This record gives sequence, C-alpha cells and structure tokens, in this order.
Amino acid sequence: MSFTVAIDGPAAAGKGTISKAVAAHFGFAHLDTGLLYRAVGARVRDGAEPIAAAKALRAEDLEAGDLRTQAVADQASRVAVIPEVRAALVDFQRSFARRAGGAVLDGRDIGTVICPEAEAKLFVTASAECRAERRHRELTERGEIQSYDDVLAAVRDRDQRDRDRATAPLLPASDAVQLDTSDLSIDEAVARAIEIVARRRGPE
Ligand code: DC
Repeated sequence: MSFTVAIDGPAAAGKGTISKAVAAHFGFAHLDTGLLYRAVGARVRDGAEPIAAAKALRAEDLEAGDLRTQAVADQASRVAVIPEVRAALVDFQRSFARRAGGAVLDGRDIGTVICPEAEAKLFVTASAECRAERRHRELTERGEIQSYDDVLAAVRDRDQRDRDRATAPLLPASDAVQLDTSDLSIDEAVARAIEIVARRRGPE
C-alpha cells in the first residue's frame, strides 16, 4: 500500500531533518527533491544546457558529492524556474511517491503540484533570520566560510525566486498543516511532525 507524505517549505526551515526522521519513524522511503534540482544545477555549472540536463538525469547523479554547496543551491533555484526542467522531473518524483510501503518527499511543490493527493501534507517554515543562522552554522561546520549577512541575503534571494516563479511557486497547499520551527528544538519539531502524520495515517 502506498502512503505519501509531502513536506514543503523554504530553504533551511528544517524540512530535511524532519523528513528523514518521519521516514525513519514510519519505515517509509525518503526523497529530498531539492537534490534533483541541485544535480541539474551542478551540471549547468559545468556547462550543460538545463533542459537537456534535467531530461538526462539519473538516480546516481543524486549521489554526487558537491551538491550541498551554496553555489549549487543558487544554481538549483535558477534552473527550477524553467518549466521544462520541472516537467522533466515530475515522473521520477510521482513514481517514488507511489512506491509500496510509503514515501516522504520534501521540496517546494510536493503538496501542490507533484502529489496533490498526498495523504499527509506539512508546510515547514521558520523566520529568514533563523534559517540563515542554521544554514550559516551548517556551512561553517563544513568549512565553507561565509558571513552571516551573506547567508541571510542568499536565503532571502532564494526565497524570493522560489516564491515568485510562475511555475509551481513555493506556497502551502490549502490542506497542508503548517509547522513553524523558529522556536522549536529539532526533537520538538520532529515530534510534532510525527504526530501530524500519525493522525492522518489513523490506527495501525
Ligand atoms: O531544498 P533545496 O535547498 O535543496 O532546494 C534547492 C533549490 O531547488 C530550491 O531553491 C528550489 C528548487 N526546488 C524546487 O524548485 N522544487 C522542489 N521540489 C525542490 C527544490
């Protein structure tokens, strides 16, 4: 039986951590859909044409080592505005969502465009300052040196691009449960997300 959990929200709101924990709790598979756009973005940085890169994308490309950098994130949000790039990535995401045994997909448009029929939908948010602080810490831990102000500016730029694009903009589905993680610890945010999904799932 399939059961799809759609987790959307802006960069660094906690979607990734929450999605992994929800998947582990329920024994579901997890797909970080941002990686698809990052993998296309990385190819484009190497000189590829965006639509051809999206059409040629293979599952192995998601395992490339350098997809987590700020530069690739920026390139990802640029290729993500191209409707043909998005269209080329739809089937992969939908078939992942419907795999037997349950799936968690996190991204920007999962509850609205990719899986409007998802059984559980969450929209995870946090203030831009709070997200920039988390992202700054993460980048510093990985040895990427950037000032907090630069990270905050990049978070705001990416938010704006993700929200303002014409195709599949970042926005909560009307039936998504909103979860603001600004003042929550990781454990608290995860516990709330699990509770929301468990409610939708009903008694085991
Ligand atoms: O979640 P992330 O930071 O890895 O995503 C990188 C970029 O990819 C993000 O700025 C917008 C784009 N993206 C998207 O448009 N739709 C998705 N479902 C996931 C990511």
